[in-house]
Amino acid sequence: MDPKKRVGLEAALRVEDGMVVGLGTGSTTHHFIKSLAERLKEEELEVWGIPTSYQSYFLAVELGIPVTTLDEHRPDLAVDGADEVDPHLNLIKGGGAAHTREKIVDYAARTFLVIVDEAKLVDQLGRFPVPVEVLPGAMSTVKEGLESMGGTAHLRMAHMKDGPVISDNNNFILDVQFESIPHPVHLEKELNNIPGVLENGIFTGAVDEVLAGSVDQVKSLKK
Ligand code: A5P
Repeated sequence: MDPKKRVGLEAALRVEDGMVVGLGTGSTTHHFIKSLAERLKEEELEVWGIPTSYQSYFLAVELGIPVTTLDEHRPDLAVDGADEVDPHLNLIKGGGAAHTREKIVDYAARTFLVIVDEAKLVDQLGRFPVPVEVLPGAMSTVKEGLESMGGTAHLRMAHMKDGPVISDNNNFILDVQFESIPHPVHLEKELNNIPGVLENGIFTGAVDEVLAGSVDQVKSLKK
């Protein structure tokens, strides 16, 4: 079975009746949300989802998962994908430009479960560029700030639309390549200190468990 589908199915089994669940974004959480919707129908479970993007919102609505907000509920469990996972369960996220809302929902959850293809496991973060969401008017000063920290920043360009990607929050995304990221906890904070940065895609200290899938098994990683 496809590793992403395998971990999506496994994560859906972690959801219990009555839970509020953070619905992550991306191709792996797509499988999770579909499997969750099937369980809701078959087992008549009462579950509410808090989407982390338009993508997960539309999918939840299409599949009949009731949605709510952080103003009304806190998630018991958040399930989300990642672009890289290090041995301390620090992450890079935001390959789909959704990391700001993902971080808000995932960090608010009682339990944060990450689901990935095992190819996302790395010894050290940083091969994948760090996505940084930036207020459009601050793009050039933020770029300078990132470059003074040793990063090379590229404005993410859109497909099927001329010009840059516009995030779900109406901002730009800078993808920042660092030579290496030896101290992700420090870098997560430093990036957010640049005026005009809304949020960056480094997630540290928040993950409770990672389910890493291969074609024939799922491994559970905990701290
Ligand atoms: C969305 O912006 C991202 O944080 C995704 O969660 C991450 O890129 C993983 O996506 P895939 O599951 O599609 O690999």
